[in-house]
Amino acid sequence: MYDVYEIRKDFPELALEINGRPNTFLDTAASAQKPKAVLSKIMSFYSTHYSNVHRGSYYLSEQATAEYEEARETVARFLAADSREIVFTRSATEGVNLVAATWGMINLRPGDEILLSEAEHHADLVPWQMVRDRTGCSLKFFAINDDGSYNPENFYKALSDKTKLVGVTGMSNVLGTVFPIKEIAAAAHAHGALCLVDACQAIVHQKMDVKDIDCDFLVFSGHKTYGPTGIGVLYGKYDLLASMPPYQTGGDMVRRVTYEHTEFAEPTARFEAGTPVIAQAVGLGEALKYMQNLGLENIAAHEKSLLDYADARLAEIPELKIIGTAPGKGGVISFALGNIHAQDVAFVLDKEGVAIRTGHHCAEPIVNRMGYTSLARASFGLYTTREDIDRFVAALVKAKSFF
Ligand code: ALA
Repeated sequence: MYDVYEIRKDFPELALEINGRPNTFLDTAASAQKPKAVLSKIMSFYSTHYSNVHRGSYYLSEQATAEYEEARETVARFLAADSREIVFTRSATEGVNLVAATWGMINLRPGDEILLSEAEHHADLVPWQMVRDRTGCSLKFFAINDDGSYNPENFYKALSDKTKLVGVTGMSNVLGTVFPIKEIAAAAHAHGALCLVDACQAIVHQKMDVKDIDCDFLVFSGHKTYGPTGIGVLYGKYDLLASMPPYQTGGDMVRRVTYEHTEFAEPTARFEAGTPVIAQAVGLGEALKYMQNLGLENIAAHEKSLLDYADARLAEIPELKIIGTAPGKGGVISFALGNIHAQDVAFVLDKEGVAIRTGHHCAEPIVNRMGYTSLARASFGLYTTREDIDRFVAALVKAKSFF
């Protein structure tokens, strides 16, 4: 039985009062709150098992190394991958940059095409613009429908034998659209292209099995999966990772170094130069276990019921327009409230203790394509309640009355 009120007790920050009101935190798509299990794990790791990893032949270093590598195993199990395919990065953004700067820079040339959905976050767009500018390849986009839904016809029309990589988000952070990544990966492969999935949003709302999806690369960030900041994951098929040069160089990513020459280590060490993100990885492992204990299907069902409830409640405000209404969308609601600027809406909501995100959501092209320069967005997490939505709606009504 999924008891959201019990679950909320695991999240200290949710108990805060904001401006004298209950903390109505509706910005989980930007970054999720952290459960006590993650906070205590990080505290106990730093208090009892901490040292640098892979370097020391003493007790604490062995403990820290074991915990760090155990976190990699946990991530691998979460994605149904092999642990040799899990690279720890600073962020999902760094994961895409790694693929762009290594695989992209050595494999792409004039005449080749990178194909992205129109709804990509800047993290899965700007790195490919850099690769385009440096290699002379082209960058193309497949259009989505006006309601934000995936348009297969546009995708298949844009895909060709020139396509070398398809980059697609599992779920749009602006529109909530869930893309059929398994179908997209299969189509990319049929044309000899690779497929990279940005799973930052999707991974908290649906099971990501990389073997089933058969994507070549997948990235996600720890802070959106109820884990710490400063950690991301890059999954890559092992043979691909093994074919790629290092992204950064330095300690711990080498086999042998002379003054003249360096032999690089195998993946994953090859891509983790310097002291890695040790405690962050340990915290991420704990966060993924926390989600697994609640049950990913239970979390998804809870969020779906919240979305239906929010849709019904928001329909009571005729001036409110939801941007992104694709069937089966995930738990984010971007909206415009009449002609009131999103920033003004957020200002009034904040006074009521309601936190939402505003702006272009680091996905400026798709916000512009939908006809806006700035949108307000409410997003849900595993701890969001119907009462949160009721307070959100009441605050919106108040905002409307002010302008
Ligand atoms: N990409 C994050 C968001 O959508 C930060 O808010």
